[in-house]
This record gives sequence, C-alpha cells and structure tokens, in this order.
Amino acid sequence: MQIKKLLPLALATAASAQETMNLTAALASSPELSRLTGALGLVPGVGATLGEASNITLLAPSNAAFEELNATTLNDTALIQAVLQYHVLNGTYYAENVTETPSFIPTMLMNSSYTNVTGGQVVEAVRRDGKVVFFSGLLMNSTVTQANVTFDNGIIHIIDRLLTVPANVSTTAVAANLTSLVGAVTTAQLAEAVDTTPDITIFAPNNEAFQSIGSALGNIPAEDLASVLTYHVINGTVGYSSTLSNRTLQTLNGADVTISVIDGAVFVNSARVVIPDVLVANGVVHVIDNVLNPANATATPNATMSTQMPAFSGASSASDVPFTSNVPTPTAPAPTGGAAGGSSTSSSASGAAMPMRTGAVGAAALFGGAALVYNM
Ligand SMILES: *[C@@H]1O[C@H](CO)[C@@H](O)[C@H](O)[C@H]1NC(C)=O
Ligand SMILES: *[C@@H]1O[C@H](CO)[C@@H](O)[C@H](O)[C@H]1NC(C)=O
Ligand SMILES: *[C@@H]1O[C@H](CO)[C@@H](O)[C@H](O)[C@H]1NC(C)=O
Ligand SMILES: *[C@@H]1O[C@H](CO)[C@@H](O)[C@H](O)[C@H]1NC(C)=O
Ligand SMILES: *[C@@H]1O[C@H](CO)[C@@H](O)[C@H](O)[C@H]1NC(C)=O
Ligand SMILES: *[C@@H]1O[C@H](CO)[C@@H](O)[C@H](O)[C@H]1NC(C)=O
Ligand SMILES: *[C@@H]1O[C@H](CO)[C@@H](O)[C@H](O)[C@H]1NC(C)=O
Ligand SMILES: *[C@@H]1O[C@H](CO)[C@@H](O)[C@H](O)[C@H]1NC(C)=O
Ligand SMILES: *[C@@H]1O[C@H](CO)[C@@H](O)[C@H](O)[C@H]1NC(C)=O
Ligand SMILES: *[C@@H]1O[C@H](CO)[C@@H](O)[C@H](O)[C@H]1NC(C)=O
Ligand SMILES: *[C@@H]1O[C@H](CO)[C@@H](O)[C@H](O)[C@H]1NC(C)=O
Ligand SMILES: *[C@@H]1O[C@H](CO)[C@@H](O)[C@H](O)[C@H]1NC(C)=O
Repeated sequence: MQIKKLLPLALATAASAQETMNLTAALASSPELSRLTGALGLVPGVGATLGEASNITLLAPSNAAFEELNATTLNDTALIQAVLQYHVLNGTYYAENVTETPSFIPTMLMNSSYTNVTGGQVVEAVRRDGKVVFFSGLLMNSTVTQANVTFDNGIIHIIDRLLTVPANVSTTAVAANLTSLVGAVTTAQLAEAVDTTPDITIFAPNNEAFQSIGSALGNIPAEDLASVLTYHVINGTVGYSSTLSNRTLQTLNGADVTISVIDGAVFVNSARVVIPDVLVANGVVHVIDNVLNPANATATPNATMSTQMPAFSGASSASDVPFTSNVPTPTAPAPTGGAAGGSSTSSSASGAAMPMRTGAVGAAALFGGAALVYNM
C-alpha cells in the first residue's frame, strides 16, 4: 500500500528532475509567453534576479494578457519593473496548494515607490469553481490557464490577465465609489497619513453607512471627525481576512475595536464586512456597512440581521451623501488611461500604477459585482 502510494511520486520527481529547464528555456517552451519574455528584456535586472532566485512562483501573463498593457506603461521602466516583480511569488506554490480559503502570498514587489507592505506586497490566491484565481489591486482577478510548469528556480503558472499593482488608499477608495469616506478623510486632512503609513488595515464604511448617520455628521467639529475616522484604521497590522479572528485591535484613535467572526461573516464592532480584502499599496481595506463610533465601542452585531443598527444612536439619515462635495477632483489626467478612471489626488507612483489597463471596465462596477458575491 505504502509502496503503491510512493511509486508515482518518485517517478514524478525523477521525471521533473530530468525535465527541469532554466528560466529562458521555460519561457521559450511556451509560445504563449513571448510577450512576457519581451517585457523581461526591457528590465534586465528583473530577469537576472529571476534567473538566480530559488523557490519562487512566477505568475506568467499570457500574450493575450499583455494586450491590456498601455504602451505608455511599457515605456515606464520603473513601473514595468514593479509590475513584473509583483508577478513573482516568494515560495513554490503548486496549483493544489491553493484552496477555497484565500491565502495572501508575498511577492518580490518591495520598492517603496509602489508598496509600503513590509515583506513584499501580496496577492490573494484562492480556488473558485475549481480554478486557481489570483486577486490583485482593485479586486482584479487573474485565472491560471496552465499550472505547474517547472523550471530550475521554481514553477510557473500561466495566467490570463496581468495582476494590478495595488494603488494607494485614496485612489482605490474613489475607484470603489467610497466617495463619502474620501471626502471625510480629505476634510479631516488625513489623506496623506492614510496613504503613506506602512502596514495598515482600514475598515472603510460605504456611502450608505455615512448617509444613514448624516445628521450626526452635519456640523461635526474637525477634531471629532478625525477621532471617528482614525477609529477605522489599524496601524502596524495588515489584517487580511485569513488572519482576522475574535479579538480586539487597537486603532489609530487609541481606542480598541472588536473583531467577531460569526459563521464566516466578519464584523468589526457591530459593522459587517461586506467586501473583504481590497489590497492597497500600504495594506488592506475591508468595506463595512456602518460607520464605527469610538464612543460606542461596545456595539455588538446581530449576525441574523442583514443590516445592523447604526452605532450613532439617534442619528438620522441625510438626503445627500455626506462629504462628497469634498472629494478632490483629479488634478491631471491618468498617466496611462484605463479602467479605473485614475481619479487620484496623489502623484505617487502607485496612483499611476493602477490605471494601466486599456480595458474599459469601470472599477466601481467591479466592486459592485464583488459586493453581490460577498453579500450572498
Ligand atoms: C538555458 O538553457 C538553454 C538550453 O539548455 C541554454 O542554451 C542556455 O544557455 C541556458 N541559459 C542560461 C542563462 O543558463
Ligand atoms: C516610448 O518611447 C519611445 C522611445 O523613447 C518613444 O519614441 C515613444 O513615443 C514612446 N511611446 C509612448 C506611447 O510613450
Ligand atoms: C522569502 O520569504 C522568506 C520567509 O518565508 C524570507 O526569509 C525571504 O527573505 C524572502 N525572500 C525574499 C527575496 O524576499
Ligand atoms: C520556500 O519559500 C517558502 C515561503 O517563503 C518558505 O516557507 C519555504 O521554507 C521555502 N522553502 C525552501 C526549500 O527554501
Ligand atoms: C504544497 O503542496 C505540497 C503537497 O502537494 C506540499 O508538500 C507543500 O508543502 C505545499 N507547499 C506549500 C507552500 O504549502
Ligand atoms: C510609502 O511611504 C513613503 C513615505 O513613508 C511615501 O513617500 C511613498 O509614496 C509610499 N509609497 C506608496 C506606494 O504609497
Ligand atoms: C473576474 O473579473 C471578471 C470581470 O472582469 C468577472 O466577470 C468575473 O466574474 C471575475 N471572476 C472572479 C472569480 O471573481
Ligand atoms: C499541477 O497542477 C494540477 C492542477 O492544475 C495538479 O492536478 C497536479 O497535481 C499538479 N502537479 C504537480 C507536480 O504539482
Ligand atoms: C456610488 O455611490 C452613490 C452614492 O451612494 C450611488 O448613488 C451610486 O449609485 C454609486 N455608484 C456605483 C457605480 O455603485
Ligand atoms: C504607526 O506606527 C508606527 C510604529 O509604531 C509609528 O512610528 C507611526 O508614527 C504610526 N503612525 C501614525 C500615523 O500614527
Ligand atoms: C467569535 O465570537 C462570536 C460572538 O461574538 C461567537 O459566536 C463565535 O463562536 C466566536 N468564534 C470563536 C472561534 O470563538
Ligand atoms: C495610454 O494612456 C495614454 C494616457 O492616458 C493615452 O493617451 C493613450 O491613448 C493610451 N494608449 C492606449 C494604446 O490605450
């Protein structure tokens, strides 16, 4: 019995040991990868690093995937280098290592012009309908079309779409239609801190959440607004859904929030996470359906209800979405055009890195789709 089990494995190992190729040969072995080879040629440093690395997984965009790249992006050496580094995972991950429970895998993208996640920006790996899918910035997805191409330094999976380098919080929030939050953060002059503080987790209330407590926000003093907003930010911890469990976390405000995981649903105080794991340049954003109130830290969820009581008791709904008049308008057109509209207020490279696709699917629509999936 044991021998039977061992035999195919031993054969497989022997076979792969014989067949193993160097990076150049592995890329050349698939006609699907000629454009990736060309892109690697634009930034010799990345190819050299890859050739010398061990224990890596290369997510190799197919030629069709490269169609999405704007020529301007291909001319930007620093950006294309960052994009390629983001496609290299630290560790050997076979297709069967990816399960229906999402995991968040560090990549070789560490350049602080593009990420402030210590240890490397991550991709989310998850199995959906039997397929291996990687989620990147703006909840963009890439599906593995050919798995486990072995080469000397690790393995290659061919994917059908480029990964999107996660953009900063402001850019991502605008793309996700979290305009009330963006306006509030701008009003409180917290945008720069939120965009550049390394390793953060943000619980981001959606527009409905702000609107439902509009009366409490009408004339809120700047200091109180800042206190409410900083209560939504965890500094020093990037809390992906895979790591969130029943516990308290200290916020930037100083006060704690309570995380509860109930039948797979994640709550922070009484607010429900409606879209988890939106990767951003400096950490992760979870969209929630209520504004958190530091003066009501004991609010608890009722998991059987689809909507929760606002944490600001006595507040009433506003007719307009609060703070949206304060959403900064883009100061310059997006450098590379593309999906997300690039309504970035930041000149940081990550703001520019995101809207690099030529495909014209609005990111807000993508987020809408994600919300549907996660609400079911
Ligand atoms: C990769 O392998 C091919 C074929 O075996 C060989 O011709 C080439 O020199 C190798 N390249 C490097 C960089 O080792
Ligand atoms: C890319 O760079 C080349 C050479 O520097 C230039 O001729 C070309 O116009 C650039 N293309 C774009 C789309 O920026
Ligand atoms: C890969 O991850 C390991 C920890 O698992 C770390 O020690 C190593 O430095 C990482 N390699 C790179 C190139 O980041
Ligand atoms: C490969 O990388 C993974 C992730 O960094 C690490 O856990 C593992 O120990 C490494 N294995 C080898 C053989 O270096
Ligand atoms: C991947 O799965 C194989 C077994 O299929 C296991 O030996 C290996 O440790 C797994 N690697 C990781 C990084 O989980
Ligand atoms: C990372 O943080 C530094 C300052 O701490 C900032 O200059 C840089 O723009 C940040 N990077 C990104 C991608 O936001
Ligand atoms: C991937 O994105 C496309 C839209 O571009 C969407 O239709 C599809 O459902 C997404 N797949 C997953 C697994 O989220
Ligand atoms: C490669 O991936 C396939 C799934 O796509 C899996 O069935 C197979 O076992 C994997 N092979 C190795 C050697 O990991
Ligand atoms: C964005 O939010 C506003 C205000 O809540 C809403 O009216 C609009 O339908 C949303 N747009 C999308 C694309 O979800
Ligand atoms: C976040 O935490 C770090 C390390 O503790 C600290 O240096 C930094 O000032 C904090 N950031 C903010 C915005 O409070
Ligand atoms: C987490 O807390 C909730 C209630 O707050 C409880 O229903 C659930 O069982 C707890 N989960 C674990 C793993 O203890
Ligand atoms: C690339 O982006 C630039 C700037 O947004 C735009 O002018 C140009 O038309 C785009 N090129 C392609 C091929 O889509």
